[in-house]
Amino acid sequence: MRKPVIAGNWKMHKTIGESVDFALRLNKELAERSADTDVIIAPPFIALRPVAEAISSSVIHLAAQNLHDKTEGAFTGEVSARMLADAGCEYVIVGHSERRILFGEKDDFICRKLRAALSAGLRPIFCIGETSEERDAGKTLAVLGRQLKGGLNNFTAHDMGRVVIAYEPVWAIGTGKTATPEAAQEAHRFVRTAMERAFGKDISSVLPIIYGGSVNPGNIGDLMAEPDIDGALVGGASLDIESFTGIIRF
Ligand code: PGA
Repeated sequence: MRKPVIAGNWKMHKTIGESVDFALRLNKELAERSADTDVIIAPPFIALRPVAEAISSSVIHLAAQNLHDKTEGAFTGEVSARMLADAGCEYVIVGHSERRILFGEKDDFICRKLRAALSAGLRPIFCIGETSEERDAGKTLAVLGRQLKGGLNNFTAHDMGRVVIAYEPVWAIGTGKTATPEAAQEAHRFVRTAMERAFGKDISSVLPIIYGGSVNPGNIGDLMAEPDIDGALVGGASLDIESFTGIIRF
């Protein structure tokens, strides 16, 4: 059985104080619950360490939103996997469509980042997804296949044991337009089958594949009812404690 994963990607929102305050409130909300869902929050870089301290004895896991592929060096403004692990991160989001589109990240760079994350002991949340033009042109599954192949180039079954895949159709991110549960399920099924072909059933059957794109407390239940949807990567609705806990309690 796969354990549900609900991850909040705060993007460029919340100061250090606001991040810590949210983490403490979330901790209180979840205190009564057994750890039946993996709950992850991804604050901005500068809030990672203070949030790690705030949630040190809780069930909440910490993620960064990005990383650089090199361990150290002359890369002004960048942060390495080793630094993130040292700050208390367990997870890191890699290949988010905002990184791909706004910052020009390509599959080979994303592949190196995924590798860097694993080398530092971090679990990558590897994001893939098609644009509306690609969907309208009937290319959704081809795009997902290309992104999986490029990002996971030379990965082994052992590597895949630590990866979470997030299917996030670009047209659904921050737009209020969620994929229908059936459309999301079709994409998730495609990803799981591709992973079975590449790495075997032992891996594909336990691989968490989560959905992202305008998830809210009202639509999470129907998405989670689909057999291959194992959780959600949540942007906007993860910024508010009521809506994020509503999603966690789907
Ligand atoms: P959204 O963002 O929930 O605001 O659509 C999702 C994401 O970007 O991961």
